[in-house]
This record gives sequence, structure tokens and C-alpha cells, in this order.
Amino acid sequence: MLSDPKLLVGLGTSDDAAVYLVGPDVAIIQTVDFFTPVVDDPFLFGQIAAANALSDIYAMGGKPLLALNIVCFPSCLDTGILRQILQGGADKVKEAGALLAGGHSIDDNEPKYGLAVTGTAKPDEVWANAAAQVGDVLILTKPIGTGVFLTANKVDLAPGEEFALVCDYMAQLNAAAASAAREVGISACTDITGFGLLGHAYEVASGSAARLEIYLDAVPLFPGAIDLARQGLVPAGTYRNRDNLVGKIVLPSSIPAYQSDLLFDPQTSGGLLLSVPAAKSTALMATLQQRGITASAIGEVVAANVGEPLLEVL
Ligand code: CO
Ligand code: CO
Repeated sequence: MLSDPKLLVGLGTSDDAAVYLVGPDVAIIQTVDFFTPVVDDPFLFGQIAAANALSDIYAMGGKPLLALNIVCFPSCLDTGILRQILQGGADKVKEAGALLAGGHSIDDNEPKYGLAVTGTAKPDEVWANAAAQVGDVLILTKPIGTGVFLTANKVDLAPGEEFALVCDYMAQLNAAAASAAREVGISACTDITGFGLLGHAYEVASGSAARLEIYLDAVPLFPGAIDLARQGLVPAGTYRNRDNLVGKIVLPSSIPAYQSDLLFDPQTSGGLLLSVPAAKSTALMATLQQRGITASAIGEVVAANVGEPLLEVL
């Protein structure tokens, strides 16, 4: 099945979504994501879960068309909470210009919510994560640090004002960033989610058979994230992400653990990582800025050398 020529993107390159060639001019992009509540406000949780699920369509260069709710909810809880979660999700699907066309719910001990999303793109306009080119500049469209904030929030240690900003970003669609990237033209794209900045950057590097250099000082962090990491408010996923990359990446020898933790911090509804030809990078930064996106150039794509790790933080 994986070698079916209609499956333009499948499991092979750890990409964001599956891409299926329906006809010469149309590909469909299919993705699904759902998780347990990350914030106390049910409407906001619905918004974040939906923005996160929709993101994989944007990361593939597609336009979301249709979404289905995936709901797990305890029968003993107030259904008014569920209604607000669904309203939050519907709000983001509407903002994305897609249609919410049903879904499925089951009784479960812990609430969970997300979407299965179908999108579309012209086959030659699909953005793979495995198509970064030597000489490209890497641009990140949201700051890093949602994992430490969500961990801190579970024990009421997330500073209020800073956490509100993080929530705004998590609820923000990657639509505007993707449309700026479409306008200017890019080589490759992925979104930064559970594997953290370095986990997803490594997938781009290995899929593209190129080496990615990330400049530590250029990586944008949410205000307060470094303090939370220093306090050890680090989610378990950080350690899994770090373990997955042992021997595959090079970190500066002087980097303190709390600082490198943030590079592995699992992101919820993170930004896009865009790989853009250097000649277009200034134009892309300007276009992103015009759309209100606070983007940062965080590194570049260079030629891989045999025997050297494909990812280095400088
Ligand atoms: Co993704
Ligand atoms: Co996903």
C-alpha cells in the first residue's frame, strides 16, 4: 500500500499528513489529532485543539475543506462543558474557512477533543517536509515553550500574563503564515508539535538528506519559558524527544540543560518551520510581518557531510 503511486506522501518521511492524488490536478490531504485538555477554559481548549489539528493541513501547503469532531467525554460531567469545547473547535474551523460536518463521540474517563481534517492542494503545490534545499534559510513562525507553560499550569505555577500570551499563540491558526509562504514561495515546510523544535527539524534534515544548522540565540522563546525550564517544569515528552536524537545532533557543549530542554520542548499548536531559498527570505520575513506574524530566521540548510550529524545547534 505504501508504494501506491497515488499516495504522494505517506508514512515514509514522518510528514505532517497523508497526501493522496485524486486526479491530475487535485490531491487531498488527510490528518487527525486529538488530546486531553491543556487549559481549564473549555472554549479555549476547543480552539487550541482545532487550531492544532488544522495546522497539519497548512504545513502541507493545503487548504482545509472539511473537519469531523473526535470527542471522548465522561457521562458524569456537565454536558455544558462539552458544548463549550465543541463551540471553540467550531469557531476555529469556521475561521479556517472549512466546514464542520459531524464527528463521533464516546464515553471515556478523561475528556479528549480534536479533529480529523481533510484538505486539498494542487499536487505540485504540496509542501513536503523532505524538500529543504541547501542554501535555504529556516524561518519559525511562533515562539517555543508551550510545553513548559502547560506543565507549569498543571501545578498552578504558570505566570498569568505570560500564559495568556502562550494561549493566544496556541489558538492562532497557521493559516496566515502559510499564505505568506505560498505567496513568496518556499522549498519545504513542517509544523512544530510534539517532537519539539529539534525533533521536527531533524525530520526535515533527514528527509531532505541535508544538514540543518540552528542558531541558539535566534530561536524565539515565550517570555518566562526559560524561567520555567530552569525550575524544572519540563514535560516528560522533552526527555523522550531528547533520547530520540541521541547521536544524531550536535549541541553546543556549554549549553545548560534547562536551555536545551526548550529545544526539545513538545509544542502544542506550534508554528510553521519554513525552509525558504535565501534570495526570498527577506521577502518572506517582510510578508509574514505584514500579516502580523512574529517570525524569526533561526538557521540554515547546508550540505550534509558523510558521517556527520544532520542537525547542529550553534
Ligand atoms: Co505536523
Ligand atoms: Co499532527
